[in-house]
Formats: sequence, structure tokens, C-alpha cells
Amino acid sequence: MSDAASRDISSAAAALEAGDLVAFPTETVYGLGADAENPEAVAKIYAAKGRPQDHPVIVHVAPGADLDYWTTDVPDEARELVKHFWPGPLTLILKRNAHIPDAVSGGQDTVGIRCPSHPVAMELLKAFKGGKGGVAAPSANKFGNVSPTTAQHVRDEFGDDPRLAAILDGGSSQVGIESTILDLSRLGTHGPVLLRPGHITAMQIATVIGILVAQPDQAAPRASGTLESHYAPKAPVALLPTGDIEKTLAELKLRGRSAALIHYTPFPDAQPNVALPAEPKGYAYGVYAALRAMDQQQVDLILVEAPPTDDAWLGVNDRLRRAAFGSTGIIERFLKT
Ligand code: TXA
Ligand code: MG
Repeated sequence: MSDAASRDISSAAAALEAGDLVAFPTETVYGLGADAENPEAVAKIYAAKGRPQDHPVIVHVAPGADLDYWTTDVPDEARELVKHFWPGPLTLILKRNAHIPDAVSGGQDTVGIRCPSHPVAMELLKAFKGGKGGVAAPSANKFGNVSPTTAQHVRDEFGDDPRLAAILDGGSSQVGIESTILDLSRLGTHGPVLLRPGHITAMQIATVIGILVAQPDQAAPRASGTLESHYAPKAPVALLPTGDIEKTLAELKLRGRSAALIHYTPFPDAQPNVALPAEPKGYAYGVYAALRAMDQQQVDLILVEAPPTDDAWLGVNDRLRRAAFGSTGIIERFLKT
């Protein structure tokens, strides 16, 4: 790391210690960070994002952090997963230790905790409170918007909001979609529950702990990223099977409607468009930047070629479904009028 970069990191750590907000890169998406143990600092995150108060935030910790400082009743399975996947894109929901402020957990008795693997995030967490602190950080976007995967995306979201003391630039986030969230806070009664699919799959988790992972149920803790509509651009988004794309683009054009296309099989005539890799990791890496780029084209609609539905695509399909949620029936409406 260059001298300038390490200076940026120490001043960002100092800003966090002073109760200010710092945006920083993680391997999944950029986070908007505050000292997790300073409720006034955490309140600034909610204000800047426009996020409802009862939505808990994830606490980010340095490699080797003491899980028992943040959480209680830690099951062996959690420790095995930490050993296996941290630093990395896995968030664990565990019982919150009594001294952890309400502010980070939206008043619930649990806390979401993860150790990110992005080098800049790890350096920041090591510098902040000598590696013993926790940085509360949701994705660095306004509530409901597409998560940022570059420093420029963060600037696009917050402009020069004086609440942000710094935006650390760590290039494009390598994973591209948010961390897998696994609830282990009710392991004894409900088993491990997947709250948000991501790069680390339920199958990989099951392989490590030897227990199958359940999908969310009604009683599961709330997660804002699990609201039906989330991660959404301003333009409506519609998912379409590959075979329907060309015909739909032509029909929309006849009706004077402009459409952008995000695809992974070739459509030489579509424009504006973004072609993403036809495999889930490369697709996840590019999908949020693609949604943002197409949203900037001022089109009436963003069409997305629906990806395959096998397990490896679960995280990507989850985010695309949420991006499209508010837009049900939009194509039919456009073609009728
Ligand atoms: O990859 C990520 O997880 C990124 C980077 C910055 O680390 N963070 C992120 O944060 O996606 P956010 O706030 O946008 O989404 C975190 C999700 C939310 O859906 C929140 O409700 C859920 O985690 N969450 C946090 N703490 C929780 C808890 N105690 N119980 C249940 N859900 C929780
Ligand atoms: Mg988010």
C-alpha cells in the first residue's frame, strides 16, 4: 500500500473514531460506515441513507476480532463458518451482547456481523480503534437504490453530502452483490436460516457445518435487503426469457418506447445495452454497474434477459427480482398504450 493510501486510511479511521461517516470498499459492495458503538454516529447513517430506524445494520470487524465481545451464545457452527469463510462475504446473525447499542440492531436482540476481505476494508478495520472496534455499515446508497460497487457510484448517491467525511476508493468490488446472510441466532429451534443469498452458497455453508440450510420463514429476523422491492433503479425493470427479447424490443419500438437491454447471450441490434458474462460470478460482478449505467440512459424501461435458475445464480436472481418488483405488468401496459 502506498504512503498516500495508508495516510487516507489512518485519517478515515480517525474520522470514524470522531463519530463521522466514512464510505469504504468491501469485496461485495461499498459500505457507509460509522462507529458501531457510537449511537449518534450510527444515527447519521440512517439520516444520510433515508433508511427507516428499525432496519438493523451489519457490524464489520477486523480479521481475528473477538466474536464473544459482540455476541453471546455463539454456537460451534458459527465459529466453524468464521474459520472457513472470514474474511469474506458471509454475514452471521447471532445473539447480541448486552453492551452493543440498540442502534445497530434496530432494537432486535441479535446482531449481524461480518469480516470483509477487501484489503482497504481490512486495513481500515485494523486501524480503527486498534482493530478492536466495529464499523456499522449498510451499503452506501440511498434507501432502496442499487448498491454501489465503485467509489464513483457512492459519489453519485451522496454527491457532496457533508455528513460523509471521506470516500475511500478501492476500485470495483470483486463480488458485486451483497454478502450472504445466515441467521444462526435461533439455531436450536429453527436451524441455520438463509436470509439473503449471495456469493457463498447455502450448499457451501451446509458442507462446512453438516446441517442443511433453511430458507426464510415468517418468524425470521427482518432484513431490509429482503423487502420485496429493493436494489432498484429509477427506470422500471422487466425480466424476460431469452426467446422473448427480440420481439418485445421491436414491439416497444413501434409504440415509441425506449428500452435498454442487459443480457448475456448476443443481441447485436439492441441498444443501449450491457452484455454481461454468461456465468454467475462474472455476472454478479457487473450487474449493479449495468443497472446504474442503463438507468442513466433515460430509457422508459430496462429489459433484463432472465438468467438461468440453477443454484449458482440464486444471488443474482434474488437481486434482479427485487429490482423488477415494482414493475410487474409494465411491458403489457407499454404495449397497450
Ligand atoms: O455485503 C454486505 O453485506 C454489505 C457490505 C457493505 O458489507 N452490506 C449490506 O448492508 O448489504 P445493508 O444494510 O444494505 O444490508 C444488510 C442487511 C439488511 O437487509 C439488514 O436488515 C440485515 O442485513 N441485517 C443486519 N442486521 C441484522 C439482524 N440483526 N437481523 C436480521 N437482519 C439483519
Ligand atoms: Mg443495502
